[in-house]
Amino acid sequence: MITIKSNREIELMKHAGHINYLTHLEVKKHLKPGITTKELNDIAHKFILANDCTPSFLNYEGYPASICISVNDEVVHGIPSKRKIKDGDVVSIDIGVCYKGYHSDSANTYIVGKSTKEITDLVENTKKALYEGLSVIKDGIKISEIGDKIEKFAIANNLGVVRELVGHGVGTSVHEDPDVPNYYTKSQTKLRSGMVIAVEPMLNLGTEDIYMEDDEWTIKTDDGLPSAHFEHTVLVTDTGYVILTE
Ligand code: MF3
Ligand code: CO
Repeated sequence: MITIKSNREIELMKHAGHINYLTHLEVKKHLKPGITTKELNDIAHKFILANDCTPSFLNYEGYPASICISVNDEVVHGIPSKRKIKDGDVVSIDIGVCYKGYHSDSANTYIVGKSTKEITDLVENTKKALYEGLSVIKDGIKISEIGDKIEKFAIANNLGVVRELVGHGVGTSVHEDPDVPNYYTKSQTKLRSGMVIAVEPMLNLGTEDIYMEDDEWTIKTDDGLPSAHFEHTVLVTDTGYVILTE
């Protein structure tokens, strides 16, 4: 079921989105060679609690940490650990924040220090792909138009579009209807003003193929090449959209 949010719900989600954004800034401040992904997780966890919110991902379907940190060939759902960040790493940070029962979901990818032009382009183009997808959003469009835009942009830039994982509605659960794929589908489902969705392209430098690690969470690229992930939670309006996670 796709829900239309009331004004009260939208206010709560705006707050959840704002704290999500501030948590991203806090983690980014500490993202340097030598820090472990667990230390970054704990910084986010404390910051979220200090702002009267809770981390949406902790214990979600058994997920064992507060945020997801996916490095290099890890696409999404990397579990924070003793792994130390190194110069040149491509680090995707995915954060969920819940305020008074309402969630927000947002991801960013950073390059630590310097990398190659190829990898810098991967990260910049994945961010651009997110904004390409968002650009068509308004009341009445088909949801498939978002993915169509993202897919065309990715293909034009020679990047693989991950297909097994998709964007989604957001509300009292971090994952709600509808699905928001990052590629064209024949679905006729339309967006309506008052819906809140997360758009989240995951683009690979190499092929789109991925696999799941033995930890049953971490998703990695088959070819071992890096992947990038950007995500915003947005409110659909009559004339466009409002990003809640910035
Ligand atoms: N942001 C992630 C997504 O929408 C949600 C992670 S759920 C977790 O795919 F369980 F892995 F935390
Ligand atoms: Co999401």
